[in-house]
Amino acid sequence: MRARIVIIGGGPSGLLLSQLLHLSGVETVVLERRPRAYVMARVRAGVLEWGTVETLREAGVGERMDREGFVHEGVYLSAQNRGFRVPLKERAGRPVLVYGQTEVTRDLYDARDAADGAVIDEAAGVEIHGVDGRTPHVTYRKDGRECRIDCDYVIGCDGFHGVSRGVIPKTVLREYERVYPFGWLGVLSESHPVSDELIYANSTRGFALCSMRNEGLSRYYVQTEVDEDPAAWSDSRFWDELKRRIPEAAADVLTTGRITEKSLAPLRSYVAEPMRWGRLFLVGDAAHIVPPTGAKGLNLAVSDVHYLHRALVALYRDGSEEGIDRYSDLALARVWKSVRFSWWMTTMLHRFPDQTPFDQRIQESEIDYLEHSGAAQTVMAENYVGLPF
Ligand code: FAD
Ligand code: DHB
Repeated sequence: MRARIVIIGGGPSGLLLSQLLHLSGVETVVLERRPRAYVMARVRAGVLEWGTVETLREAGVGERMDREGFVHEGVYLSAQNRGFRVPLKERAGRPVLVYGQTEVTRDLYDARDAADGAVIDEAAGVEIHGVDGRTPHVTYRKDGRECRIDCDYVIGCDGFHGVSRGVIPKTVLREYERVYPFGWLGVLSESHPVSDELIYANSTRGFALCSMRNEGLSRYYVQTEVDEDPAAWSDSRFWDELKRRIPEAAADVLTTGRITEKSLAPLRSYVAEPMRWGRLFLVGDAAHIVPPTGAKGLNLAVSDVHYLHRALVALYRDGSEEGIDRYSDLALARVWKSVRFSWWMTTMLHRFPDQTPFDQRIQESEIDYLEHSGAAQTVMAENYVGLPF
């Protein structure tokens, strides 16, 4: 088989790039390792920057998102039982949209199916060949058969544990990493959200986050040990711990519900440079990971897609290689700003194992400063709603 572009990974970045390129007249083949039901069931991000919203609309998948998503014009922060609101829209001119990644993925799959897009799931043993030359190809197994696709370019949208990044020689790849000594235990609960906007809570017992999916579905997280077993957390243990970390006013009105999902996520910052090697491009989590505190991972994947889509269209329409040559630098400039913001939010809000009373006071005074300084709120809001593409 031959295709102009092979995309490895059918997560949000792979599907979105394939959909945008399709609308621009460039067809792709997407290879996904997992069954579709598995990809669709993964509960992850919930907050979309406005640039992400606009990109999803551009891809023709905005209709249900615009109908069912929740526009949030502010977020709450709290420390030691005191909460306050950062008015995002007032400070940064734009709100964010609460709409789950599972829904984004479903909308993208529907759009790809409607256009007869080639998305091959359960593609095993994907291997990338010849991206350092002019004639790359990709091999994989499907239903026990060996398959091969010859192509112009390979795009690695295969997440942090994918195969694409490993193709770049160690002598070329530069890696930057910080692993945080804690994780997040997240639950989905069939209950009315405790607050109409998100609450990010610092407490001496550790961080907590109150988020939501819709009026009947809440998403809550508490900071735990990184090797914690979610099974060791009964529902009542989870609710008790959450209530002790958020302001009393919120804890008093928190309604609990049936928990339908419980999972642990480690926290890590990681960047791989460059994001292009020969005819291979890395996009999204394949190239970078941020801790979830700033709600940036999915949004960064979308901004990478935005840059690469434009670059590839310029190449195929006008024969211009300028865009693909600039892709890595352009994407990384935005990536590093989000890495910094996510690190800052994480550092301000979490309890570190070696945390001293001094460190705790520094965190509290940072949050106090945010409460009372319009300038500090503007800096936070501008980053939280998303820097321009
Ligand atoms: P992925 O979603 O990881 O998709 C990669 C795909 O490639 C997968 O489907 C995988 O099966 C496939 N694949 C892997 N290896 C291979 C292979 N060898 N061959 C073929 N296919 C392969 N981000 C936000 O913006 N806002 C948030 O609020 C937010 N909250 C989060 C909360 C949690 C608890 C977690 C864990 C993450 C959160 N994120 C958030 C991050 C966000 O979910 C990711 O950044 C996003 O999924 C990245 O998309 P991606 O398509 O690049 O990678
Ligand atoms: C959600 C996840 C995040 O990491 C975040 O910062 C905000 C919301 C969520 O899953 O809803």
